[in-house]
Amino acid sequence: TMWCLELLLPLLLIIHNASSQWNIWLPRDISAMTNSCVVIPCSFMYPSGIRPVKGIHGIWYFGQPYPQLFPPVVFKSLTDVVHESFKGRTKLLGDLNQRNCTLLIGNIGAEHSGRYYFRADVGGANKYSYPDFTELKVLDQPNIDIPEEIVSDESLELTCYAPDNCPDMTPEIQWMYTDYLPDPEFSSENLEESNTAVLSNTLTFTPRPMHNGQLLGCRVYYPNTTLVYERLISLDVKYPPRSVWVNVSSEVMEGSSVTLHCEVDSNPPPRISWMFGEEELLWDTASNISLSLDDVTPANEGIYTCVGDNGYGIMNTSMYLAVKYPPHEPVVNDSMTVLEGTSLALHCSTQGSPAPTLTWLKDGELVGTITADELSVLQIVEITPHEDGQYRCLAENEHGRASSSLNITVEYAPVLLEESKCTVVREGVQCVCIATGNPEPIIEFYLPDLNVTINETDGRYNFYTHTDGHTSTAMIKLREKGERADNGGPAVNVHCSMHNIYGRESILLELQQEKKYMMAVIVGTIGGVAVIAFIIAAVRYVGHNNKKENGNPRQDVVLENPALYYSAVKKDKQNLRKKVGEEGDYQPVGSMAGLERRELNYAALEFIGGRPREGASGRGDDGSNYSEIKAK
Ligand SMILES: *[C@@H]1O[C@H](CO)[C@@H](O)[C@H](O)[C@H]1NC(C)=O
Ligand SMILES: *[C@@H]1O[C@H](CO)[C@@H](O)[C@H](O)[C@H]1NC(C)=O
Ligand SMILES: *[C@@H]1O[C@H](CO)[C@@H](O)[C@H](O)[C@H]1NC(C)=O
Ligand SMILES: *[C@@H]1O[C@H](CO)[C@@H](O)[C@H](O)[C@H]1NC(C)=O
Ligand SMILES: *[C@@H]1O[C@H](CO)[C@@H](O)[C@H](O)[C@H]1NC(C)=O
Ligand SMILES: *[C@@H]1O[C@H](CO)[C@@H](O)[C@H](O)[C@H]1NC(C)=O
Ligand SMILES: *[C@@H]1O[C@H](CO)[C@@H](O)[C@H](O)[C@H]1NC(C)=O
Ligand SMILES: *[C@@H]1O[C@H](CO)[C@@H](O)[C@H](O)[C@H]1NC(C)=O
Ligand SMILES: *[C@@H]1O[C@H](CO)[C@@H](O)[C@H](O)[C@H]1NC(C)=O
Repeated sequence: TMWCLELLLPLLLIIHNASSQWNIWLPRDISAMTNSCVVIPCSFMYPSGIRPVKGIHGIWYFGQPYPQLFPPVVFKSLTDVVHESFKGRTKLLGDLNQRNCTLLIGNIGAEHSGRYYFRADVGGANKYSYPDFTELKVLDQPNIDIPEEIVSDESLELTCYAPDNCPDMTPEIQWMYTDYLPDPEFSSENLEESNTAVLSNTLTFTPRPMHNGQLLGCRVYYPNTTLVYERLISLDVKYPPRSVWVNVSSEVMEGSSVTLHCEVDSNPPPRISWMFGEEELLWDTASNISLSLDDVTPANEGIYTCVGDNGYGIMNTSMYLAVKYPPHEPVVNDSMTVLEGTSLALHCSTQGSPAPTLTWLKDGELVGTITADELSVLQIVEITPHEDGQYRCLAENEHGRASSSLNITVEYAPVLLEESKCTVVREGVQCVCIATGNPEPIIEFYLPDLNVTINETDGRYNFYTHTDGHTSTAMIKLREKGERADNGGPAVNVHCSMHNIYGRESILLELQQEKKYMMAVIVGTIGGVAVIAFIIAAVRYVGHNNKKENGNPRQDVVLENPALYYSAVKKDKQNLRKKVGEEGDYQPVGSMAGLERRELNYAALEFIGGRPREGASGRGDDGSNYSEIKAK
């Protein structure tokens, strides 16, 4: 029979080769639902030499096997005296004489969890406390076997267990909250292990990311009783990132701040990071991350990628951050000096976002075409002095404008102006030579008959020269005998010779034949305003013998023939050129009021035969300006 026992309880028992020793077979662990019951199967052996006389008795103890420690008595076959907490709850199902110590405990409470020991009393001194025990676990809810890791899209089995060791009551198992699971399958099974029975129900389905966090429940109940036990679990479904949300591509102004958000849907939370190109700017282990950019510069423009990686998968999403800014100061060529006839290409480049338009302005006026490119090239073919000036490149976008300029100075060979001539004056002949050129021409007079070059202030010829901008004026006066012919003209030819680095020209000056009066008033620079007034005025020349009566040169000298006055001639050679050959074009000087006395340069003024004049409209107030002009 002992061999039979061993075969019946093969897994349960710790077997010593002990058929004739004190031995016991009981389950190491057994469980029961609260308020239900449990049967602890038990068989024992005693040494074969012992012959029980008065039958066999036994005691079940709780916690400790040794009577001297006074453990609570669970059951005692000799008397009915048991510990209070087991009163009315225990019954020995086995027959001790059959070495069957099977025990029923009913109406179990949590306090009954613990170790149960059996002590056999075979008669006389043959009493023995078996050290082996059964550990009872009292459950108030069923156990659910959950895999350590639940991964989405992989088949999942969840098993719920209910102990089935109470003969009067058979549990049933139901899964709860399975309505929305995809194709759930249930399979029920009775397991016997170590002589204890367990009912199980296995739920099989394939979880999806959406099932992460979902509640599932297992309910154990005993039909025809009110006993119901439930256990709820929340599914922890691991899934790779299935979405990476980032801000839509956006535009920000330079200098402002911007925060880029990223949120990754994954379980567990990913290692989340913001990349700018190849560079990782920020990372964290979280479901979301915010990248703050302060004082944004154009260098911050570009593609930002948020990457989520949680070990189950990796995913990224990108956005484009555009940085808006007003145009930067355009880069243009340096100011330059070029020779007339040169062709040039002026470059203007800048950056701005959105791309600025580029416009070329010359002295404030539009030239060329407006481009919406990063580079605008202004082509100037065969430049003329007319195109000398300030060239400005203007860059504009909706956020602002910026400009840069350069000056182009056009250089050219001297050009003689028409008003160059010799005029008969009272005491001789006066020759004036006016030329423009850049650099300003140097003027000399050459008297070929005398083989004399006059280029320096010289008492004899009253050489005078003056330069104003790109215009040079030179004058000489020939008064000595040999220098004047009978007709009043110069006895010698007078050449005006002018040159600068680009050219040299020598021209024979004509003697003006008209009986005009000539006078030159040269008004010097008006310094601060950078406008140079250049006035040459002529007054009637009174011939040798018919000097006018009433002449009072020191008083209210006015210029008789306004048509001969030079108006304020601008520095601009363009204007000068225009006047070449159009003597009648010179506009009368309307008013001298704008010219302050101290700014007049009288150094070389010579008045010849000036005479007073009344009623010169519009100039009466500044007659005094002329009071200092010497009259000869
Ligand atoms: C012990 O007794 C119980 C209850 O009567 C019985 O179910 C069980 O089969 C017996 N065990 C052995 C080994 O006979
Ligand atoms: C529950 O009780 C009903 C009658 O009351 C009976 O028909 C049924 O078999 C019982 N179920 C169980 C599991 O004992
Ligand atoms: C990004 O999205 C968050 C949340 O929607 C928002 O607060 C933030 O302003 C957005 N940032 C940009 C640059 O659009
Ligand atoms: C961002 O993540 C933190 C934890 O990392 C969390 O507390 C917060 O609620 C999340 N914010 C959003 C908008 O998901
Ligand atoms: C983003 O994902 C694509 C493929 O989905 C991959 O080619 C790319 O390298 C990823 N970018 C980053 C910054 O991880
Ligand atoms: C202006 O600058 C550009 C580029 O810097 C150059 O290619 C071009 O020749 C320059 N133009 C002149 C007239 O110097
Ligand atoms: C161009 O010339 C003007 C005066 O004519 C001057 O004020 C300005 O500074 C010059 N610009 C450059 C770029 O040299
Ligand atoms: C003119 O004078 C120079 C010296 O001043 C002299 O060398 C030259 O031979 C002279 N020419 C004539 C034609 O007399
Ligand atoms: C005048 O001409 C002579 C000879 O060409 C030269 O040496 C001198 O420097 C000139 N004087 C002036 C003021 O230009």
